Amino acid sequence: MRGYSDVLIGLQYGDEGKARIIDNIASNYDIIARFNGGPNAGHTVEVNNKRVALHQVPSGIFHPDMLLYIGSGCVLNLEKLINEINEIKNLGIGLDGRLIISEQATVILPGHIELDKIIGAEIGSTGNGIGPAYADRALRCWNKKLRNLRFGDFIDDPKLARKTIIENWLDYSDDKLMNPYSIADKLMNFAKELKKYACKNPLWIDSLARGGKKILFEGAQASLLDVAKGTVPYVTSSYTMSGAAYVGGDLSPNYHRKTIGVAKAIMSRVGNGPFVSEYGCERSEKYCMEDGGKKHNAQFEKSNYSIDVLLKSNDLFDIGIALRMLGNEYGATTKRPRRIGILDLVSLAHNCKQNGVDEIYMNKIDCLVDFAKTNLSGIPLVVEYELNGQKINYLPSTTNAQRKTNAIAGYLPKMINGISNCQSYSELPDEAKKIVEKIEAFTECKVAGVGVGPKREQFILI
Ligand code: IMO
Ligand code: MG
Repeated sequence: MRGYSDVLIGLQYGDEGKARIIDNIASNYDIIARFNGGPNAGHTVEVNNKRVALHQVPSGIFHPDMLLYIGSGCVLNLEKLINEINEIKNLGIGLDGRLIISEQATVILPGHIELDKIIGAEIGSTGNGIGPAYADRALRCWNKKLRNLRFGDFIDDPKLARKTIIENWLDYSDDKLMNPYSIADKLMNFAKELKKYACKNPLWIDSLARGGKKILFEGAQASLLDVAKGTVPYVTSSYTMSGAAYVGGDLSPNYHRKTIGVAKAIMSRVGNGPFVSEYGCERSEKYCMEDGGKKHNAQFEKSNYSIDVLLKSNDLFDIGIALRMLGNEYGATTKRPRRIGILDLVSLAHNCKQNGVDEIYMNKIDCLVDFAKTNLSGIPLVVEYELNGQKINYLPSTTNAQRKTNAIAGYLPKMINGISNCQSYSELPDEAKKIVEKIEAFTECKVAGVGVGPKREQFILI
């Protein structure tokens, strides 16, 4: 009997709550596999008050028999990976024999991180060296120096690995005080420690699928952050679209069964770049990214603002701040305030089409209850785009056009009572069902589940 694979991806700007959906549906699968990105991802999972923010290890750690695969499309920070594995061990969860890492994955070198500090600032990158590492992967080698150093090279040719780390550091770092030889020694030791997780056989995942195993590909980042299809250049450096799972995940598309999209009812974005439905527009972008995102952090907002006052404001910028505070929308990786926006159905439909999404999981619909305390005439949803006086039903390609695009909102009736205790679809009030129906009508996809609160059980399968 042959197995199959499903692909789960983010449909917005990341942080849609992909990990909690995976945690909910994981028991249907044997393997959770990452195919893109690296430590820039922040996937928070929580079980029995045990909470962990995963960055490189696939979500699904709380399912004891689950295999966890890091595919060739990922970039690895070895030191951070060891720390993450230890953090998971401290929760009483072992990964030996369960975590498998492709030897073809590219390793992020200390020089990449140094370079990202300089060139990534304009994008608002997470500072993890993601862009430089992927750029070097594409560059392959240069001037007789290897540029794409992969996990397998550390194991197979340590001399080459050591040499490459040193060259990379000397080429990319301005820091003359650090000793490149000790930097290389440190990294070589991390690789030794991780050697037991290395996957020698690029057909490993294929052999499991052939034998009947079921695979769930876990996307990191999201559609609108795709290196080619997202809001370029304000994107990450990997392919985040569903099809990328069948390159970076090391399985052929023959096994594909369905594509699962995850979105959240209140949108967010961290870092710079266009965000058509943002509350407070570019004013919010500037505010959130001031001092690299450090200035207006959770602590600052908590001590300076009253949520109730902000919600009553007629300035959408204020409402955005209130929704961020209520939804605790601060980065899991960088702690930066996330920019907040209206649920954008035009962009959602655009991304469902591009990725061939079969079903959507919509997180945080409970947060829409907060609109009851505002002066808005209902729950706002973006239902139309307008560019240069013309109606359009897609997100245009360039930064200039994206910045000029106007979001036109429609309103649905407010929800008055909280929905966090609802346990089934039938228990949800009509106003909540109307939102689900609207999303389905717009995207032509089925909504398969909704999140009604942060806890594991606050999740309704439809
Ligand atoms: P998950 O998987 C949200 C954003 C950064 C920055 C841009 C480029 O948790 O949804 P990078 O470090 O990748 O070069 O940064 O992409 N970004 C994310 N935003 N969620 C993420 O991951 C992100 N990973 C990167 O904020 O704007
Ligand atoms: Mg995240």
